[in-house]
Amino acid sequence: MSAAAAAEIELSGVEKRFAVPGGAAVHALSRTDLSIRKGEFLVLLGPSGCGKTTLLRMVGGLLPPSGGEIRIAGRSLWREASRDPEALRELGVVFQDANLFPWRSIERNVALPLELRGVPRARRLERARALCRSVGLAGFERRWPRELSGGMRQRAAIARALAGDPQILLMDEPFGALDAMTREAMNLEVQRIWMETGKTVILVTHSISEAVFLADRVVLLSPRPGRIDSVHAIDLPRPRTPETQTLPEFQDHVRVLRRRLEAVS
Ligand SMILES: Nc1ncnc2c1ncn2[C@@H]1O[C@H](COP(=O)(O)OP(=O)(O)O)[C@@H](O)[C@H]1O
Ligand SMILES: [Mg+2]
Repeated sequence: MSAAAAAEIELSGVEKRFAVPGGAAVHALSRTDLSIRKGEFLVLLGPSGCGKTTLLRMVGGLLPPSGGEIRIAGRSLWREASRDPEALRELGVVFQDANLFPWRSIERNVALPLELRGVPRARRLERARALCRSVGLAGFERRWPRELSGGMRQRAAIARALAGDPQILLMDEPFGALDAMTREAMNLEVQRIWMETGKTVILVTHSISEAVFLADRVVLLSPRPGRIDSVHAIDLPRPRTPETQTLPEFQDHVRVLRRRLEAVS
């Protein structure tokens, strides 16, 4: 099988220009080619404004590209501004803010994608409860979002993204608003979920150590206009643990990425 055929996500010549009323268009992302294999953990790293969110939103079916093609499991995601429903079904998205509905319990937030798909109530709640357990929220299923910590709300957001059993999980700075300790715990949690489920993950961050800790490959983006600066394979053994960060190889990757990030910022 060719590399292209094995790719789970394939970007060819994908670009984005934002029309700005009364001004020149913003060229947020210039023509980008990237292929991500099934089961890969890919991290997008780059300075603020380099187009990370724009790229993730296009892959997530939330923002139509201005040009190029995005293929998900071989299916073209976008046709003009409309999306292929089969391709869309393979995608689950997590944002920086959990975006839970405050008037729904945790389990009913997690079950929401299934409710929208018409899954019967008993079945969707059973699935939501199993998902809550799998992300460490056992015992909190009936609580309200406001009763949970920030880290727990992000766990719920991850469970909701997994509810429809998508093959691909997209996360945009999911732990950016959390304190350092919680963030480290959540990184371990994401690695565990990824290793257990074999999902394909794209995670956006501007933290170098988070990128090195999680990624199979780090794609470094540079701004004005956004483009791929370089791709870095991170070959550290799994599962990675807090001790991994003390390895010289870990620190070498951090050093290389820091130097590149400073050069493009
Ligand atoms: N809706 C929009 N309209 C105009 N410009 C936008 C819009 N969204 C993003 N941009 C611009 O596109 C560029 C990339 O933004 P973004 O993808 O949010 O970057 P990042 O997530 O890496 O910080 C920035 O210059 C930003 O100002
Ligand atoms: Mg962003």
